[in-house]
Amino acid sequence: MTNANSEKSQNSVTLTDNQSGQQWELPVIDGTVGPRVIDIRKLYGETGMFTYDPGFTSTASCDSEITYIDGDKGILMHRGYRIEDLAEHCDFMDVCHLLLNGDLPDSKQKTKFEHDITYHTMLHEQMIYFFRGFRRDSHPMAVMVGVVGALSAFYHDSTDITDPHQRMVASHRMIAKMPTIAAMAYKYSVGQPFVYPRNDLSYAENFLNMTFSVPAEEYKISPTLARAMDRIFILHADHEQNASTSTVRLAGSSGANPFACIASGIASLWGPAHGGANEAVLRMLQEIGSKDRIPEFIERAKDKNDPFRLMGFGHRVYKNYDPRAKVMQKSCHEVLDELGIRKQEPLLDLAMELERIALEDDFFVEKKLFPNVDFYSGIILKAMGFPTSMFTALFAVARTVGWIAQWNEMVEDPNHRISRPRQLYQGNTGRELPESFKS
Ligand code: SDX
Repeated sequence: MTNANSEKSQNSVTLTDNQSGQQWELPVIDGTVGPRVIDIRKLYGETGMFTYDPGFTSTASCDSEITYIDGDKGILMHRGYRIEDLAEHCDFMDVCHLLLNGDLPDSKQKTKFEHDITYHTMLHEQMIYFFRGFRRDSHPMAVMVGVVGALSAFYHDSTDITDPHQRMVASHRMIAKMPTIAAMAYKYSVGQPFVYPRNDLSYAENFLNMTFSVPAEEYKISPTLARAMDRIFILHADHEQNASTSTVRLAGSSGANPFACIASGIASLWGPAHGGANEAVLRMLQEIGSKDRIPEFIERAKDKNDPFRLMGFGHRVYKNYDPRAKVMQKSCHEVLDELGIRKQEPLLDLAMELERIALEDDFFVEKKLFPNVDFYSGIILKAMGFPTSMFTALFAVARTVGWIAQWNEMVEDPNHRISRPRQLYQGNTGRELPESFKS
């Protein structure tokens, strides 16, 4: 223990217990960018105290080299590259390679990576029976949680997570199979036959084909839709320690197999405060219905006694415009214009007007509430023909690479330990069992 009189390091902070007057010096760690971090790993051992931070508003749960967000400036970078640049100049496979391996692929690496992914796109035929067990009208996210969890029944014995090669094969499997599973969940819900993956198509084209083609007629993949799909995948690929990624890391910290860990991430993503918001945004816009009703909903969002919140608005980290929402809004215009359905799709105008009014309102300005990634994505997905219930499933397809990259990073970290938060106990103590229970 460092005592109060010792020379203070510049990279430390001093904690004073105002009850006893005792002081402790805590080391501070600098990242390459971003806020400095107080290292409290020895805090309990030295002081006998825990920190209290429900919702992890001030806690860095790990160190990572994958994604960086500057929430005040509205900057998002993967492995040091800005999201706007990746969305403009790369495809989803480039971004998957970047997240998983640390660098963008050269052409030889790209060919190999695409082969590694497409090699695993099919599902074991026996897995079809899992789908049949679900109700016909099951939500695709319910199906995905179940089916992805069931993948561990097929690969548990062949996934030694201490072996880097097996970890990489499991990672490729997951990225490859997720679109197949999501498309099958959709096909099952509409009563159409499953469509097998086609490895001659790009990742996005293959997903569109598995989702929208039927055996009875030819399906022409629109390049506009394929590009939009690919961009949506890029924009959702990773977002550092969000709720679902933290869930994957927490599940994986015990050494659980990666398929089960990703299933837990899907479950966490489903909630309306997280990935489920894209679905909720569309329902909200439909409920608002017309521009003249916007003020009524803005008032409701501001009312503490009304549970209504403006879906697609606000973010734990961004106190500025989410850079993904900007790209998404631009894509939205392009897709509606290129499909020639701008006039039939009043929701985009409604969303833009809602955004304009909210961003001029003192409540939203003071609380720094801006549109997030989910605000515009639902409008594009609807225009592309996806039912609302598929929106979060698409988020899960895209986020799989982020989850798996973060899981790999954790497993490879020699310092990683099982995640085990502590608590502030506020319950009863020392109660005696009633006599009636003692006989
Ligand atoms: C995603 O974390 C990630 O990185 C997630 C994500 C990713 O890529 O992984 O970016 C994806 O999950 C995007 C977020 C999608 N969710 C929504 O759009 C749902 C609506 N937004 C929220 O409920 C909320 O803003 C959160 C959940 C996104 C953030 O929650 P926080 O950080 O816990 O903030 P908070 O709810 O405590 O809000 C702070 C204040 C509160 O008011 P006060 O109690 O201080 O008076 O802002 C208010 C809130 O009531 N507020 C809103 C609001 N969001 C916050 N008021 C009205 N409408 C809103 N949308």
